[in-house]
Amino acid sequence: MQWKSLVVAFALSAQDVYGAPTKNRRQGSAALMRFECSQLVVERIDPLVNPGQTPSAHVHQIAGGNSFNATMTPGTYDPSERSTCTSCTYADDFSNYWTASLYFRARNGSFKRVPQLTNLGLKGKNGGLTVYYNSPYDGKTKTTGFKPGFRMIVGDPMLRAGKNMQKQLCHRCEANIQQNPFGGAPCTGSDTTSLPNKICGGGIRATITFPTCWDGKNVDSPDHKSHVAYPSSGSFESSGPCPSTHPVKLPQVMYEVMWDTRPFNDKNIWPEDGSQPFVYSMGDGTGYGWHGDYLFGWKGNALQVALDERCAGDACKGMKTQSAAEANKCMIKSHISEEVEGWIPSLPGGMPVTYH
Ligand SMILES: *[C@@H]1O[C@H](CO)[C@@H](O)[C@H](O)[C@H]1NC(C)=O
Ligand SMILES: *[C@@H]1O[C@H](CO)[C@@H](O)[C@H](O)[C@H]1NC(C)=O
Repeated sequence: MQWKSLVVAFALSAQDVYGAPTKNRRQGSAALMRFECSQLVVERIDPLVNPGQTPSAHVHQIAGGNSFNATMTPGTYDPSERSTCTSCTYADDFSNYWTASLYFRARNGSFKRVPQLTNLGLKGKNGGLTVYYNSPYDGKTKTTGFKPGFRMIVGDPMLRAGKNMQKQLCHRCEANIQQNPFGGAPCTGSDTTSLPNKICGGGIRATITFPTCWDGKNVDSPDHKSHVAYPSSGSFESSGPCPSTHPVKLPQVMYEVMWDTRPFNDKNIWPEDGSQPFVYSMGDGTGYGWHGDYLFGWKGNALQVALDERCAGDACKGMKTQSAAEANKCMIKSHISEEVEGWIPSLPGGMPVTYH
């Protein structure tokens, strides 16, 4: 599936808003689920990188099943059994999705967390992110849903330069969200790996696209990356082959976070030297440390059924869904007692800030 048709698929999901029928729509041969997961909690917990550690190094915004916790050992901790609710539209999806949070640093040195917009065509969730599961069908290859306990990371929170950055981590400066509602495919057009260095009238769209080839054995690896790989040539969308070391084709998971920078688009409160004022929670004002974590938690074989059914959009025959109001109700109390919203005098954890 080419990005062009992916963009068409986005446009089709947008018809949801305008009342076109969407139930159980099969979009040609492609399966592209696109749905919202609202905010479960914003806190310093990271069961992948800092298991058992309360607090972890930096703040994350977390969505999905409410069994999210500092320790989630693969093989023993099944989010679909332990969760009693999910913040996602698909009600059998108890996975956890998390990314760094974004902060605004005012001229006086105080920080305030940047909220998120609900994505176009979707239904008014409280913060969180848009999740995609893409399973293009080339007539030969079956995509295999993740196994229980599966988890992975894209990005490196320590990076402050573009060198050695993983693929498929991008920022788009939205001039006007109404004018350019879908913004085009991730990492195309004038997207940058760094944070944009100018005012973005419609906010900043930050995307993370996960690898799609699996070693077929390990649900995790010490760096949470080496059990998966990107295609050895071409791209997932063009049915590029998986490397022989990672032969199993996974669905493509993608995150889209719509940072609502509009409340801060006043040059009078930006740094006097004209530099851009947004910093990720690990103290990264460059954007090169942008990262996301995935912890699989669909109930039973629900994800495989959705892939085989070639589900598209945020509703599909045979799949349980819930309203935005129900999803928004699924929240957890922070495990850490500290202020993560603003105005705060320093980033939670005292992370020192690096600017462009
Ligand atoms: C989270 O972990 C703590 C400490 O190990 C434990 O007391 C608590 O029950 C766990 N919460 C869930 C939802 O499993
Ligand atoms: C810092 O600046 C922000 C934005 O102008 C303002 O809302 C906040 O109250 C200020 N904080 C302090 C401690 O002066």
